[in-house]
Amino acid sequence: MGKGVALFPAAPVFPRNRDVEHPYRQDSDFFYLTGFDEPEAWLVLDARGDAPRSILFLRPKDETREIWDGKRLGVEAAPAALGVDEARPVESFEEALPDFLEDAKALYFGFGKHRAYDALVLDAIEVVRGRARKKVEPPRAVVDTDAILHEHRLRKSEEELEIMRRAGRITGEAHLAAMRAAEPGRFEYELEAEINRIFRMRGAERPAYETIVGSGPNATILHHRRNDRRMEDGDLVLIDAGCELEYYASDVTRTFPVNGKFSPAQRAVYETVLRAQEAAIAATRPGVTLDDVHRAAVEVLVDGLLEMGLLEGERAEILEKGAYSKFYMHRTSHFLGMDVHDVGAYHVEKKPRPLEPGMVITIEPGLYVGENADVDPAFRGIGVRIEDDVVVTPDGCENLTAHIPKSVSEIEAAVRG
Ligand code: GLY
Ligand code: MN
Ligand code: MN
Repeated sequence: MGKGVALFPAAPVFPRNRDVEHPYRQDSDFFYLTGFDEPEAWLVLDARGDAPRSILFLRPKDETREIWDGKRLGVEAAPAALGVDEARPVESFEEALPDFLEDAKALYFGFGKHRAYDALVLDAIEVVRGRARKKVEPPRAVVDTDAILHEHRLRKSEEELEIMRRAGRITGEAHLAAMRAAEPGRFEYELEAEINRIFRMRGAERPAYETIVGSGPNATILHHRRNDRRMEDGDLVLIDAGCELEYYASDVTRTFPVNGKFSPAQRAVYETVLRAQEAAIAATRPGVTLDDVHRAAVEVLVDGLLEMGLLEGERAEILEKGAYSKFYMHRTSHFLGMDVHDVGAYHVEKKPRPLEPGMVITIEPGLYVGENADVDPAFRGIGVRIEDDVVVTPDGCENLTAHIPKSVSEIEAAVRG
């Protein structure tokens, strides 16, 4: 940090309605650095002197507040519990901040996320400018912490991967339970409840994103969230759901026939997506880019679309012009970690970034045939996505969610219970 100072705020509390707040979820960067999940806190990394120090500002113990809002770690316990060098009450942060900025060669801070925090930091810089007579200088450079920290978060340690494997196992149990619970006549939200029930029963804090249960034509809506349709005999059901465990996300999609038997058209689409997913997983290894992984999936999807008669024309031209995009309109992969669409640069020097061991990505091809598409009516309203989470290893990749039913026979058996 070259004699600089870094500042990391805890996530703010967001009001929901009147005096109700959204459930609190710590900022991922702040949690990555501290392991501390309380609101109203700041982490300062002070590298100005010869011995760099970490100082955590946090809410002090308060008997009355704790009766209403729950236990607090408190200032005294924080250094031993969290490994910071020093802890102070958060009420003193604003006043102390200019002192930390005095003669800092650079300020490391993620401006542009929360206006109130930006203002607080800018005000402190202003205060230091006013101290010129003290012969101190404000920071002469500002560095975005994202660029540095997110490179660390992008590459997962073995400890992080072990949490992600456990998150994958809980997510698998939830998908299996939903497949078993599915029946024509039940509502999408009943499966959502089943998924989220298993997450909590197994100790995951929350879903990593809102659970998507799309049946029939809803399977073709990428971010369907109402989950309020009654499932009908003959529907496919697409469930995109993953738990968040100890602040790490899983992100898994399975698609299955609600009555336990794929129709011929459903099966043809499903097997195409499955082959595409397998091809993309097989292509994932160090040195390849997410464009390469996407391309591996798209080539198989296009072959399938031609075979099924959903597309006509020259394979090469379809690939070149992207005519498949009316059935496959999203990308195949994103980074996965503490955030479901995780941090980390997808491009380095404007070029797609080669994958490295320790990076975790999703592999999630799909095909979505609109209800009104100009195709054989047997295919209309079919939506299929298959999504797994893989970590890049030195010689390929490890599928963290491989145990969740995926072949036609595994899926049909699971739905029939
Ligand atoms: N569930 C969000 C995604 O698959 O990217
Ligand atoms: Mn997903
Ligand atoms: Mn995903």
